[in-house]
Amino acid sequence: MTARKKTEEPKKKVKKVTTPKNKEVKKDTKSKEKTPKSKKPPKLLRGMKDIQPKHGYLWQKLYKTAEGIADAYGFDFVETPILEEASLFVRSIGKGTDVVDKEMYMFEDRDGTKVCLRPEGTASFARAYVNHGMLNMPQPVKAWYYGPMFRHDRPQAGRYRQFHQFSCESLGVRDPVIDAELISVAYNFLKDLGIESQVRMNSIGSLEDRQRYIIELVGYLRSKRSQLSEVSKMRLSKNPLRILDSKDEGDMAVVEDAPQILDWLSEDSKKYFMEVLEYLDDSSIPYSLDFTLVRGLDYYTDTVFELYTENAEGQQSALCGGGRYDKLVEQIGGQPTPGCGFSIGLERVLLSLNNTEAEGSSIKPEKPTIFFAQLGEQARRRTLTLIEDLRKKGIIVGHSLGKTSLKAQLEMANEYLTTHTVILGQKELQDGTIIIRDMESGIQEIIDQKKLGNALQKIIDTKNK
Ligand code: HAM
Repeated sequence: MTARKKTEEPKKKVKKVTTPKNKEVKKDTKSKEKTPKSKKPPKLLRGMKDIQPKHGYLWQKLYKTAEGIADAYGFDFVETPILEEASLFVRSIGKGTDVVDKEMYMFEDRDGTKVCLRPEGTASFARAYVNHGMLNMPQPVKAWYYGPMFRHDRPQAGRYRQFHQFSCESLGVRDPVIDAELISVAYNFLKDLGIESQVRMNSIGSLEDRQRYIIELVGYLRSKRSQLSEVSKMRLSKNPLRILDSKDEGDMAVVEDAPQILDWLSEDSKKYFMEVLEYLDDSSIPYSLDFTLVRGLDYYTDTVFELYTENAEGQQSALCGGGRYDKLVEQIGGQPTPGCGFSIGLERVLLSLNNTEAEGSSIKPEKPTIFFAQLGEQARRRTLTLIEDLRKKGIIVGHSLGKTSLKAQLEMANEYLTTHTVILGQKELQDGTIIIRDMESGIQEIIDQKKLGNALQKIIDTKNK
């Protein structure tokens, strides 16, 4: 048996070798053709952006400012997945909205589930609120989140397919002071960054108020149908409220004389809205009323708001959108739970900061003013330990272990706006000493390495006085 096996095995090998020659040649040509293609670097997808090292400090500043203000107002940090069941957004944002009808990155997961990259985070947090029984926590549950959202829209300045939002949500309490608090957080976040924004306010009432209003509005718009743009004609049956914030000139002329939603609000909604405005007055937050403001997502009730600033072309750009959504949690299957929140588009914040740079953008890279330079292989090894020892004492020093010449390192120190450079060479290494050089006067002081931490702390304290 063994002998038979042995004779069979080589036969198989021969079979592989006898593959028709022309087939092999064909294969070779293909692989040769592929080589140059595979060397082409992959491209960044349309509407997506990389955050490059040179812009890192700007994004860190945005994150730290968001964290600072959210903490101060008592919002807890949360994070929900980027991938969600698509039905969550269809149910909450609503069919007939641009986001659901045209912009969702939707696909089937490997198990056939219809999923999508989140186009926004409010529905996701409402889902988390229901899933984790947050109804049983002290109310309101105040949460903030920060991260990428995805909408397959036509990219242009300030509009991307992946963009970042800083958002705050407050679930569980219906009180005008909550709406005012959220507007105040959004307004002051922008103010802290040096952006003076204009707040636009409206109320779209309860679902019942809105239904009554829509009948009136559609009646009016039908009578002016011939003057409407093609898009608005389509929206007449699908989403007539959106015609109110159309930017088409013909539409805008029609909208000017349209019935105003404020006249259709119930007494309760009217009173609620007036109280929100009173709280804003008390907080000295300037706002204007805009009855064409209806928002592009279906889950809102009562208060809606947007914060604007002027872009480089002098056009108004919405940095922030938000409002009350008292029916959302119910719509996605939870207990009736009121809610209110906002999201700020961070790419747009950065765009507007660049625009105001001429007047002095408040954001500058934060770099240490003390630089650590080393000379020689052994000194370089010691440097790693020394900078870690300093870090543990709370002293952060700039350094460049990748550079060997002192000249190159001092050039880099100049870029850091360094006031003092610490220099460790071969001689100092042997003596257990280290040099501190005052960059302005050029005076150098040689000290015991063990005293470095205290000496640097003194320099920092004197500078901060
Ligand atoms: P939104 O108005 O769809 O609201 O988006 C809020 C902000 O995100 C916009 O004002 C804008 O600055 C930015 N943004 C939206 N789409 C893009 C885009 N394609 N490219 C760049 N930036 C964009 C929401 O998302 C709601 N979740 C807000 C909210 C929170 N309502 C209640 N809670």
